[in-house]
Amino acid sequence: MSHPFDYSNKRVVITGAYSGVGAALLDILTELGGPEVIALDIKKPEGPITQFIETNMGKASSVAAAIDAIEGPIDVLFNNAGIAATHPVEDVMAVNWLGLRQLSEGLLPKIKKGGAIANTASIAGGQWPGHLQEVLECIAIESPEELYGWCSDHAELVGDGYAFSKECVQVYTMKSAKDSLAASVRTNSVCPAPIDTPLLPDFNKTMSEKTMTWTIDQIGGTIATPRDIALTLSFLGSDASAYVNGVNLNVDMGFNAFMTTGQIDFSGLA
Ligand SMILES: NC(=O)c1ccc[n+]([C@@H]2O[C@H](COP(=O)([O-])OP(=O)(O)OC[C@H]3O[C@@H](n4cnc5c(N)ncnc54)[C@H](O)[C@@H]3O)[C@@H](O)[C@H]2O)c1
Repeated sequence: MSHPFDYSNKRVVITGAYSGVGAALLDILTELGGPEVIALDIKKPEGPITQFIETNMGKASSVAAAIDAIEGPIDVLFNNAGIAATHPVEDVMAVNWLGLRQLSEGLLPKIKKGGAIANTASIAGGQWPGHLQEVLECIAIESPEELYGWCSDHAELVGDGYAFSKECVQVYTMKSAKDSLAASVRTNSVCPAPIDTPLLPDFNKTMSEKTMTWTIDQIGGTIATPRDIALTLSFLGSDASAYVNGVNLNVDMGFNAFMTTGQIDFSGLA
């Protein structure tokens, strides 16, 4: 008898399952019934997978080859791979944003009715309400070259690319949820606070250790584990979230709630 979180007899695609959140998701999916897992990454995951397709999410030709190689139907796409701004801004935009869009749109026709797309965004991408029109303009750009030109014309807004790439993912999650709904596929994202993964030292460099520690202090001092985030991803991919669509779900132990209600202490940042 299957339950709403059941993944047995499902086929899922996961990007970035070699380490961190994606690796934790492999373990959780095993606990939830052990679906068939097709992993797309630059490194082969050691966890339980059925098929590995070496894929550079920052390269359109590599993503296109992966889309061709994936046989349908699939039930869930987890767009989880991401890099920090220790990389050049164009690479950050290519992996975190362009590759995610290309894979989502390329695989949508292969996703079953009732299926789901779950993206890993970030609370770092939560500033889009201040410039929604620009983000909509940016995510409407098709070609990578045009996008990189747009980014250099909007250098102040785009910054090092990380937060802005996650703004693109958050806004795209809301916008593309309408198109995916037409195919009876739900699209949502998780927006995590800092997570204890191999990416954390990179964020300590690019966003400063002080800012990262301050953020964690504001939410009780305990950093999220990869499993905390992967559990929420598994919910968004499962039938348990059957009526959830177009949502950017903060998985941040209340950080955004405290910010909205004026309960964040900025003195530690000074
Ligand atoms: N760690 C944090 O504090 C934090 C906070 C919020 C959001 N996130 C997001 O969580 C997601 C997972 O990151 P993580 O923290 O588990 O880090 P991680 O570095 O452990 O995992 C990233 C995964 O992506 C893969 N990857 C990297 N570049 C790739 C490429 N070009 N093509 C394909 N795969 C590639 C890596 O091999 C790895 O498996 C990312 O999207 C990240 O932006 C992380």
